[in-house]
Amino acid sequence: MIGRRQFLVLGAVGTATGLIAACSKPASQPAAPPTTGVGLAASETNIDLGGVKVNTWAYGNQVPAKEIRIKKGERLRADLTNAMPEGVTVHWHGIALVNDMDGVPDLTQAAVPNGGKFTYDFVVPDAGTYWFHSHVGTQLDRGLYGPLIIEDPGEKADYDDELVVVLDDWIDGTGTNPDQVLENLRRTGMKPMAPGGPGVTPTTPIGADGGDVTYPYFVINGRVPADPQVVDYRAGQRIRLRVINAGSDTAFRVAVPTATMKVIQTDGFPVVPVQADSVILGMGERVDAIITVNQSLPVVSVPEGKQGHAQLNMRVNNAPAAVNVDDFVVSVRARAPLDTATLSPAPDVTLPAKAPDQVFDAHLTGPVNGYTWPLNGALYNPPNGGVAVKPNQRVRIRFINDSMMFHPFHLHGHTFQVMNSNTPKARKDTVLVPPKQTVEVDFDTNNPGKWISHCHNTYHLEAGMAFFIEYAG
Ligand code: C2O
Ligand code: CU
Repeated sequence: MIGRRQFLVLGAVGTATGLIAACSKPASQPAAPPTTGVGLAASETNIDLGGVKVNTWAYGNQVPAKEIRIKKGERLRADLTNAMPEGVTVHWHGIALVNDMDGVPDLTQAAVPNGGKFTYDFVVPDAGTYWFHSHVGTQLDRGLYGPLIIEDPGEKADYDDELVVVLDDWIDGTGTNPDQVLENLRRTGMKPMAPGGPGVTPTTPIGADGGDVTYPYFVINGRVPADPQVVDYRAGQRIRLRVINAGSDTAFRVAVPTATMKVIQTDGFPVVPVQADSVILGMGERVDAIITVNQSLPVVSVPEGKQGHAQLNMRVNNAPAAVNVDDFVVSVRARAPLDTATLSPAPDVTLPAKAPDQVFDAHLTGPVNGYTWPLNGALYNPPNGGVAVKPNQRVRIRFINDSMMFHPFHLHGHTFQVMNSNTPKARKDTVLVPPKQTVEVDFDTNNPGKWISHCHNTYHLEAGMAFFIEYAG
C-alpha cells in the first residue's frame, strides 16, 4: 500500500521516525506508516501583524503556526508543550482520527496545564486542507491555530503551485483579549437584533447579522492589509489556493479581482468543480480553488456584515497590482457568493444512498439570559447530555436554526454529507446554517468515540452551543 518513494520522501516538517518497523515485520503484517514528528510549543508571545504589534498566545511563536504537511495514510506525532498561564489542547479540525487524540477538553482529554506535555499520535486517513487549533475556552481567538495540509500522492495535479491562505479576525492584544470580550458580551447581553427579519438574500446569504464582536483588524496569514504578505509568481501560473477561515466570529467572502476561481474541494473533500468569483466561508470552513495569475493581484477577504477587509498580494514581475481594493470589496459585497455546501460531491466521496437509521434534531437558539446560546434548550455540559447513536449506521442531524444569526456547525471525527431534500451535496465537516433555516447532514458511524458537534463561533461555543454524540465500536 505504501510505496518505496513515500518512505524515502518525507515531509519537510520535523523528523521522521518509525521507519524501521516496515522492514522487520513479516510480510503478512501491513507496513507501519511513515511518521512525521513536530513540536508545538504553546506560549505567550509578541507578534507583529504587519505594523500592528500584539501580545498573544501562539504555537511556536508565530501566527499562524508553522504549517504541518504530511501525506494521506501517514502518521503524525505532535509533541505539545505548554508555557501559557492556562491549560491548552490541540484539536485537528476535520480529521477522522482516533477519538482520544481529538483535543477536546473534558470530553476526550484534560487540558494540558502550564508546564505540562501531551503527545498527539495518530494516522490521517484523508487528504485535503485541514487545520489545527486550541479547543480550550476562547483561545482560538488568540493566535493558537495553524494549517494542516494532507497531500494525496495519487491526486491528479492540475496546478503549478499552491498557496495556503488563512483568514482571521483579530482583537487579542489590542487593549483587550478574548476572555474580556466574552465577559463583556455576558455583561451587556447582545446588541438588539436587526429589525425586519433575518435578512437572508442571495447577496447576503447568511443574513443581516454579521456577528457579536467588532474586530479592529482582519488578517490573512497573520498580516493586516496595510502591510500584507507578498508572494511572487510568474505570469500564467496556476495556483491552488487552500483557504481556511480561522476566524472566531466572522464569516468571510474570499475573491481575487479579475480571476475566476475553479473550486475543487471544500473541507478537504472533492466536489464537482465549478467556477466562482467569490466564495463565502463560515468559521472553520475551507475551500480549495485554482486561479491563473496573469498579473499582480490581491487575494481579498471580505468580512460578512462587518467593516474592513484583509488581503495578500500575489506579485508578477515585481509590479504593483492595478486594482482599487476598496472598490473591489464593494463589488464583492454586491454579488452573490458561492456557499460550498450547495456543490455536488465528487462521485468517489458520495456516501452510498441510504435512508437514515436515526435522526437527531438540533434546535439552535439564543441569545438568552444575557449571552447564552442553547441547543435544544440546554447548554453544553459534558459528560452529561450525550446523544447515543449506534455503530455502523447512517445518522442524520437536522440543524434547525431558530435564531436570527448564522451558525457554522461543525462535527468532529467525521465528514458528513450535506443533504438537500435527500439530494447529496458536498462532503463537509462544517456547514453554514443561515438564520431561520434548516440544514440536514448525513454521516456513517464508523469512528467510535465521543464527538462534539458545535457552533464554530468561539463565543457561541463558550456560551453553550454544542452537544456530543457517543458510540462504541
Ligand atoms: Cu475547529 Cu471543535 O473545532
Ligand atoms: Cu453560533
